[in-house]
Amino acid sequence: MSDNLKQQAAERAAEDVTSGMRLGIGTGSTAEFFVHALAKRVADGLDVIGVPTSERTAELAASLGIKLTTLEELPELDLTVDGADELDANLALIKGGGGALLREKIVAAASGKMIVIADGTKNVDTLGQFPLPIEVVPFGQEATRRAILSLFKEMGLPQDLQLRMAGEHPFVTDGGHHIFDAHLLKIEEPETLAQALVKLPGVVEHGLFLNLASKAYVAGEDGVKTITPASI
Ligand code: A5P
Repeated sequence: MSDNLKQQAAERAAEDVTSGMRLGIGTGSTAEFFVHALAKRVADGLDVIGVPTSERTAELAASLGIKLTTLEELPELDLTVDGADELDANLALIKGGGGALLREKIVAAASGKMIVIADGTKNVDTLGQFPLPIEVVPFGQEATRRAILSLFKEMGLPQDLQLRMAGEHPFVTDGGHHIFDAHLLKIEEPETLAQALVKLPGVVEHGLFLNLASKAYVAGEDGVKTITPASI
């Protein structure tokens, strides 16, 4: 069921793509539906070029005949379409469940617009039920872990931080880093947390995507809803 909803949201976003666009292409199961929908349009003559946000996405998109390049070749993009693990009414997001947060954030930040595609289960009032991924450099990661925990303590947040594993070994991102997943339950001050996290040496990036998404297509039983950030 949720796959069907993911597909509906992805197909809606693919309709927004027009010929000549430079696209950021997201990662994850919802983004994969987008890649398939985009590939169909490309087969019908749509002319676009994409920058993938992971090796995984690059492989799939290339296998389906989508023209790809890199941000080195094309540092400014028109639109990025990507999934999310959580989104609130203001389009603040948690991303990185699939481990691609660093490239996803670089690509989204290089894009004029970002469209989020999701099924309705990703919609939340307050971010934080989904564990917040924090990407760290493996060097000194125990010291980094302690620094993150002491920041959480200072902010009154739960001090529950798990190193993401892939079997018996730490999960390694496309950038060669590790990920800590922070079970914070409710992130009442995402801006403050985001700013404090990136100041910690050893932290490369985190999964809070703030002020990046311009629109979301969220699919539920009653169809695909368009969400734009609530005006503050
Ligand atoms: C990948 O790192 C993530 O940011 C994904 O975009 C996010 O986890 C959503 O994934 P699904 O579409 O598979 O739920």
